[in-house]
Amino acid sequence: MSKYILAIESSCDETSMSIVKNGHIEISTVTLSQMDIHANYGGVVPEIASRNHIENITLVYEELLKKSKMNINDIDYIAVTYAPGLSGSLLVGIQFAKTLSFVYNKPLIKVHHIAGHIYANRLFGEFKFPLLALVVSGGHTDIIKMTGHYKFDYLGSTVDDAIGEAYDKVARIIGLSYPGGPGIDKISKMGKHTYNLPTPMDDDSYNFSFSGLKSATINLVHNEKQRGNEINKEDLARSFQEVAINIIVKKVVKALKESKLKQLVVAGGVSANTYLRCRLKEECDKLGVELLIPDIKYCTDNAAMIGCAAYYAKDNGNITDLNLNAISQEKLI
Ligand code: KG4
Ligand code: ZN
Repeated sequence: MSKYILAIESSCDETSMSIVKNGHIEISTVTLSQMDIHANYGGVVPEIASRNHIENITLVYEELLKKSKMNINDIDYIAVTYAPGLSGSLLVGIQFAKTLSFVYNKPLIKVHHIAGHIYANRLFGEFKFPLLALVVSGGHTDIIKMTGHYKFDYLGSTVDDAIGEAYDKVARIIGLSYPGGPGIDKISKMGKHTYNLPTPMDDDSYNFSFSGLKSATINLVHNEKQRGNEINKEDLARSFQEVAINIIVKKVVKALKESKLKQLVVAGGVSANTYLRCRLKEECDKLGVELLIPDIKYCTDNAAMIGCAAYYAKDNGNITDLNLNAISQEKLI
C-alpha cells in the first residue's frame, strides 16, 4: 500500500515542505528561501533565519496542500529534520511537525539532514548496496559506506572546514556574493590553473582538511594586493577549484577501488559544482561504477530529500515521540 510522508526541512535558511510517496516519488514541494536576506550579511544570521522560518512556515504548509491537491488526512506520516543545523531554525520545523503529529494523530519520523541529502538521490534512481556516498556541503565533507538503507559507516570526514565553507570564504575574499560556491564555479570556467596552491591532506586517509588551502588562497590575495599586483580572479577561482575538487575525487576513487563498490551516490550543496560532476563522471566511467547524482535543484536544501530519507528512517528506529528536540551537531550513524 502506498505511503505518503509530509516532510519539513528548516535546518538553515530554507523553509521547505514536501509530500513524498513511497520514499522516491515527489508529489509536491514548496520552498521559501531566505538567501537574498542573508546575502546582505555575507552569511546566514541564525536569529534572522529562525524569525523568518516562523513567518514562512504556515504559508509554506498551506501552499503545499493547495499545490498537491491533498488533504492532511491523506498523509500517513509527518517527518522533520532534527539535526544537524541551527538550533533556532530546526526548532521551528520540529515544533510545526509535532503540532501536526499531535493534532492529526500521525506518527512522527526524525530525519538527519545529511541522510536527507544522500536520499535526494532516491528521486533519481535505486540504491545498490554496498555503495559509497560522498557528502559535500556547507557543513560537511564526508565519505560514507552504506551497507543497506539507513545504515551508515563513516570512512572519513573533514578535520576542519567543510568544502562549501572554503568555497564561501574564498569567494568572499575575491568579491563574490554569498553563497560563493556557484560564483566560483561560474568564473572558474573563464580561468586557467595558474596559481600555485597547496594540495591539502594528500595522504592515505579518507579525511580532508580545507582550512590550510583556504588560508593559502586568502594570503595569496593579501600579498599580491600589498605588492600592488592585480589578482586574476578567474584564474584564482580555477586554481582553488581544481586543487580542492581533485583531492576529493582522488580519495573517492581510492575508496571505490579499495572497497570494490559499484555505485557512487553524491550529495549536498557542492554536488551542484560542474567541475566535480564532470570529474566524478569521468572517473566512474573508467572504473565501471554507476554514478547517482541529483539534478542541481535537489543538491541544496529541500524537504523532498527529507521525505525520501524518512521512508527508510522509519524502519530503522527513527519513529519518535513529542519529546523530540533539535540537535545542532550530531554525526550520522
Ligand atoms: O547542502 P547545502 O545547501 O547546505 C548545507 O547543508 O550546508 O550546501 C550549501 C553549500 C554552500 O557552501 C554553497 O556555496 C555550496 O553549497 N554550493 C556550491 C555550488 N552550489 C552551491 N559549491 C560549489 N559549486 C557550486 N556550484
Ligand atoms: Zn544541507
